[in-house]
Amino acid sequence: MKFHHRAFAVTVTLWLAGCGGKKADEAPPPTATPETTPTAPANSGDPVAKAKQIFRDRCVPCHGASGQGDGPASASLNPKPRKYADKEWQASVNDEYIEKIIKFGGAAVGKSPAMPNNPDLSDPAVISALKDIVRSFGK
Ligand code: HEC
Repeated sequence: MKFHHRAFAVTVTLWLAGCGGKKADEAPPPTATPETTPTAPANSGDPVAKAKQIFRDRCVPCHGASGQGDGPASASLNPKPRKYADKEWQASVNDEYIEKIIKFGGAAVGKSPAMPNNPDLSDPAVISALKDIVRSFGK
């Protein structure tokens, strides 16, 4: 009786050990997946790419895709959104001014409050890249 009981216990122990060993062998593949994730934050961290997307999403609706101040949301506005392509205007303002109106909005520089502020854009590199896009229409 005692012998049988022991044999059973040993068998169960070996069976459990074998099972656990198999699980440990299967573990490595799932841990390999995190290696692919670091590339995503690297892409979204590019300020120029980010500015291009923000420009399309937030500026083109008013200022237009070609900087003519004629975006679909400009119709009801008075004064009209600035024509970035206006070379005289380009020459009359400096870069700091453009960055300021982008960040703080029209009201902050004595212009129409219809020109919105963008307080969530905390990265100066993104603001600067947006300014560069505005400048590119005057060339
Ligand atoms: C809701 C419409 C609207 C949106 C969205 C908008 N703007 Fe404007 N923006 C205006 C209007 C209107 C003016 C003209 C203000 C004035 O002349 O008083 C203006 C003027 C400007 C000026 C020129 C200021 C001057 O001295 O004449 C710049 C530069 C500018 N916007 C940049 C941007 C950028 C960059 C974005 C996107 C981040 C943007 N705007 C989004 C409406 C908009």
